[in-house]
Amino acid sequence: MTGGAGFIGSNFVHHVIGNTDHSVIVLDKLTYAGNAASLAGLPEDRVRLVQGDIADSALVDELFGQVDAVVHYAAESHNDNSLHDPRPFLDTNIVGTYTLLEAARKHDKRFHHISTDEVYGDLELDDPARFTESTPYNPSSPYSSTKAGSDLLVRAWVRSFGVKATISNCSNNYGPYQHVEKFIPRQITNVLRGIRPKLYGKGENVRDWIHADDHSSAVLTILDKGVIGETYLIGADGEKDNKTVVELILAVTGNPTDAYDHVTDRPGHDMRYAIDSTKLRTELGWTPRYQDFEAGLKATIDWYRENEHWWAPAKDGVEAFYASKGQ
Ligand code: NAD
Ligand code: DAU
Repeated sequence: MTGGAGFIGSNFVHHVIGNTDHSVIVLDKLTYAGNAASLAGLPEDRVRLVQGDIADSALVDELFGQVDAVVHYAAESHNDNSLHDPRPFLDTNIVGTYTLLEAARKHDKRFHHISTDEVYGDLELDDPARFTESTPYNPSSPYSSTKAGSDLLVRAWVRSFGVKATISNCSNNYGPYQHVEKFIPRQITNVLRGIRPKLYGKGENVRDWIHADDHSSAVLTILDKGVIGETYLIGADGEKDNKTVVELILAVTGNPTDAYDHVTDRPGHDMRYAIDSTKLRTELGWTPRYQDFEAGLKATIDWYRENEHWWAPAKDGVEAFYASKGQ
């Protein structure tokens, strides 16, 4: 797999080790977003971390020869960074995915591509519609446009070269091991440090939250039963506006629910994402386990409270970066 030292990738490694007999080779560049500590404690005879770039074709070729299947999580993943410096997003999300697809083609290996609901653009707050597998692509940011491009590469390599690939597009994940640059961990760690949470604009934007462990079980289901060439949307009916999430974090930690600041909005800020995961549920029989967002959020807050050593080294730099942009 790629990107296994990142947030969702490391949750996937923990899920695979805890729930299957498989062993995993993780190819990860260990960028600012990757952290070998997220894989600490896992059995060394079943998890091997190789530090390297998915755009390094010689390394990728060597590793493809050693595995049965590849799940591709590695990406530059943060919208705010993509507005500041888009280049690494093109290198990793486009050229990196191309490099992996060429290896999947050469070695004839099963390939699963992890993508995002952001490829579909956004929905209005009062729109009853949700994204489905047939919603037209309409990405907004440099991040989401490179993810859309990578999805289209996968589709082309299936059709033109017979690569045995599937794609999943998931909504916003939360859970342990998420970098403090992202919304939920940023606000949790702000509260734990006595800093007021920062809400972009009015805080009306809606995200469709799913626990990272449910994302992992969905990916294993697709690897097991998915139809080659198909796309599956992954979501757990978790729509919440940002203001509600911040108020919940404040309430759960015993703070006044209005103790947050409104800050400069994100340029081009997508208003709402919402996933219709009927295809995955009915055709492949998947269901999410974490249906209670408040309980999942409380467990996530506890994890950050107990694992300050994991997130503290990145916190000051992230806050300085946001402060420089009025956020
Ligand atoms: P993350 O930023 O936490 O982790 C990304 C990982 O990829 C890091 O470990 C990093 O070191 C690694 N990486 C980056 N560039 C690399 C390169 N060139 N070569 C090898 N490794 C490299 O990201 P995440 O939030 O865990 O997202 C993982 C995947 O899931 C991404 O493809 C993202 O688009 C997708 N996704 C994320 C979400 C979400 O809510 N976070 C939702 C849907 C889909
Ligand atoms: O929808 C899936 C996507 O979810 C993934 O593809 C991305 O990799 C992942 O980062 C996430 O993208 P978002 O842009 O939705 O996530 P982020 O955590 O950056 O922001 C969530 C919402 O919170 C968004 O509306 C912006 C807002 N926000 C974010 C930060 C960091 C704030 O209000 N304040 C903040 O400090």
